[in-house]
Amino acid sequence: MNEGFRYHQLSSWNKLEKHPNASQGNDKRDSNLFEGGFKIRLDYQCIPEQHITDVISRRYTAKEIRAFEDFSLKELGTYLKWSVGRRFNENTKRFYPSAGANYPNHIFLFIKHHASIDNGLYWYDSEDHSIVNLSGNVNYEDALLQEGIAANLCAVIASDFSLSYENYGERGYRFCLLEAGHMAQNMMLISNAIGWKSAPIGGFKDEVINQLFGNEFKALYLIPIGK
Ligand SMILES: Cc1cc2nc3c(=O)[nH]c(=O)nc-3n(C[C@H](O)[C@H](O)[C@H](O)COP(=O)(O)O)c2cc1C
Repeated sequence: MNEGFRYHQLSSWNKLEKHPNASQGNDKRDSNLFEGGFKIRLDYQCIPEQHITDVISRRYTAKEIRAFEDFSLKELGTYLKWSVGRRFNENTKRFYPSAGANYPNHIFLFIKHHASIDNGLYWYDSEDHSIVNLSGNVNYEDALLQEGIAANLCAVIASDFSLSYENYGERGYRFCLLEAGHMAQNMMLISNAIGWKSAPIGGFKDEVINQLFGNEFKALYLIPIGK
């Protein structure tokens, strides 16, 4: 039996119950990683009206992505708000589903060569719709295993597996992967809807990215974005 299948069996549930150590759900866990860096508040706007079937038909994975000459903070805010932002009517919830509303997955962004944003690695704080600078590191390219990507904006979906484990035991890992799929689909739909190209990259060198997070978060997807 291969290890993936073994994991699948070991993480099966006979009945729907939380892990014995489960917290009460919807807990926000702060990381030291998020503290101290400067914060940039984002704005957003409505995306020009489009039929949902057109938006879905236009979603695709770009295999060649060039850097933006520039993108505005409003565009970045619009992209993040409508894909992975918070709901208006229930501010603790977001525009994608999460088991138990625990939200173990986070969005990080590599940004470089931008007119008004310093080069660096940022974390998206959905609570106040801002990005927080974590470091000046902008090198995601060493993690890539493919040619054709020259983006100056690259999102990372990364998980706090331990938060999910505390709530759901071994099954928590599955939930992180499932949640990442929901997030990535929203991100692709919105990027294509606003005329940006992107690609959900699952094949990359984990450690190049994970060491930037002090191994606290584990990268699942790299999503370079550009023209
Ligand atoms: C889990 C997963 C991992 C993927 N990893 C990569 C990748 O490493 N590199 C890449 O260029 N595309 C990657 N893709 C995108 C697929 O190549 C793409 O979805 C597929 O070719 C279908 O094309 P479409 O997205 O344009 O419909 C991945 C997609 C998924 C769902």
